[in-house]
Amino acid sequence: MASGQGSNFEALVRACRGGPLNAEVVQLVVNNPVCGARQRAKRLGIPCQLHDHRDHSLRQDLDRQVAASFAASDVDLVVMAGWMRIVTPVLIAAYPGRLVNIHPSLLPSFRGLDAVGQALAAGVTLTGCTAHLVEEVVDAGPILVQAAVPVLLSDNHGSLAARIQAQEHRILPYAVALAALRLDQAGAATPAIQG
Ligand code: GRF
Repeated sequence: MASGQGSNFEALVRACRGGPLNAEVVQLVVNNPVCGARQRAKRLGIPCQLHDHRDHSLRQDLDRQVAASFAASDVDLVVMAGWMRIVTPVLIAAYPGRLVNIHPSLLPSFRGLDAVGQALAAGVTLTGCTAHLVEEVVDAGPILVQAAVPVLLSDNHGSLAARIQAQEHRILPYAVALAALRLDQAGAATPAIQG
């Protein structure tokens, strides 16, 4: 699921294609017809479904459509890779323990919008990114993987956001693999990550 540039989406696709992640990205869902993620899906040959949030007055209705798309593709796991909408219990309940989000801060610090700006405003010297399972509280839920990123004296919003994103691309495939391992109670599933 993506709303913006889709660099995390592409990182996941690349991790599956010749990278360490033993998985397949079968579908992208976007909520914005002109987002970069949609172009990337085209280039990468991944089917892309548009569910424009402006067509739905209720968040639940959007989530119902999104969940129906995933059900039709029989997906095992859903990744919110820069999905800029709050998801409702409709989607969360459809994918318990199977819905992963990436957030540009070291949670539980700086939840919500503009986590990079929040970190700069707070004057922290260390921030980063978190991949976690989605629960009903926004930017909460069990943490899967985190990466720390130092805040440099020379940083502005753009430079810090770019270094955090590079780490998001690195940790997201591992978070997907860990989520898959958690789903296997006995830990005997085919490892989703190699090497
Ligand atoms: C990422 O930084 C993610 O943490 C945030 O939105 C951004 C999406 O970037 N939620 P992209 O669309 O994957 O390039």
